Amino acid sequence: MALNLIEQLSLETWNPSLEPAQQAAATDALETGRVLYLPHLRFEVKPDEQRFLSTQWSDGKSKNIYLRGRQRTLRGAAGASQDLAALSAMLERFSGQAQQLVSALFPHYVAQLDPGNTSFRPFEIEGRTSSWRKDDTRLHADAFPSNPTHGARLLRVFTNVNPHGKPRVWRVGEPFADMADRILPRARRQWPGEAALLHALHVTKRRRLAFDHYMLELHDRTKADLDYQRDMPQQRVEFPPGSTWIVFSDQVLHAVMSGAMMLEQTWMLPVSGMRRPETAPLRVLERKTGRALV
Ligand code: SIN
Ligand code: FE
Repeated sequence: MALNLIEQLSLETWNPSLEPAQQAAATDALETGRVLYLPHLRFEVKPDEQRFLSTQWSDGKSKNIYLRGRQRTLRGAAGASQDLAALSAMLERFSGQAQQLVSALFPHYVAQLDPGNTSFRPFEIEGRTSSWRKDDTRLHADAFPSNPTHGARLLRVFTNVNPHGKPRVWRVGEPFADMADRILPRARRQWPGEAALLHALHVTKRRRLAFDHYMLELHDRTKADLDYQRDMPQQRVEFPPGSTWIVFSDQVLHAVMSGAMMLEQTWMLPVSGMRRPETAPLRVLERKTGRALV
C-alpha cells in the first residue's frame, strides 16, 4: 500500500500570519502523524557563517553540535572562543526562528511548549557506523534510554542547510498504532522495582514509567526486526537544501538514509496541550494495553 505522509505548506517566512483554519489544519496534520513539509522555507546562513557548514567544528566525540535545553551552553564543538560564540549565535537565531514558526502554526501549543536542544548535525549519515540500537537508518519512533518523557510529545523542526545541494533523505513508515499492533505483543513487562533501580543508578534522569518502558521496547524491537524494516509500508522522502519540515518524532516512524548539515530544534509538549490528545502515543498505548501507563 502506498503511503502519503507528507503535508506540504508553501510558507516562505519564519513568522507568517495564518488564518485559524490554516492553523487548525496544520495542527491536525501534525497530530495525526503527518510530516509538515515546507519546501520554500530556508534558513539563511550569513556569509561569515558559511565556514560553520563543515565538520571541522566538531569536538570529535559527539555526533552533533548543540545548545543544551534551557541552559543554552554549546556542546560538542571545539574551536576558538570567538568562533564558538558566532556558531552559538547562528544556532540561537535558528532556534528563535523555529520558535516563531511553531507559534504561527500551532498557537494552541505555545503556552505549554518546553524548549529542548537546538542541534547542528554536520556529519554525513551514509556510511556512518553505529550499534543497531543507535542506527537511525532503521525506522523508529524516538524514545531515549536516559530521558523518560512521561508521555510528553517530542516536537521537532528540521532544516537542511547543506551548501553542496545534497538532500537529506528519509524514510517514513506506517502509522504508530499499526506499528504498536505488530510490536507491542513482543514487548517485555517492566520488572517490579526496575524504574526505581535505574533511577538510583543514574541510568535514567528521572523514573522510567511504564509508558517510557514500552516506548523503548517499541524503539528497540522495531529497529531489531530487519524483515519489518524492509516490508513495512513506507515512503522515501528527499528534503533538499533550503527546505524545512516538522514532525512529532515520538509518533512518526522515521529513518535517515543520507545527507549532512542540518539544523534541528526540539520541544516537549504535554499531552494536555494537544488538540486531539487521543492521537498521542501515550493514549494509543494505554488503549492497547488497557492500563494507565503514567
Ligand atoms: C533521527 O531522529 O532519527 C535522525 C534524523 C536526522 O538526523 O535526519
Ligand atoms: Fe529519530
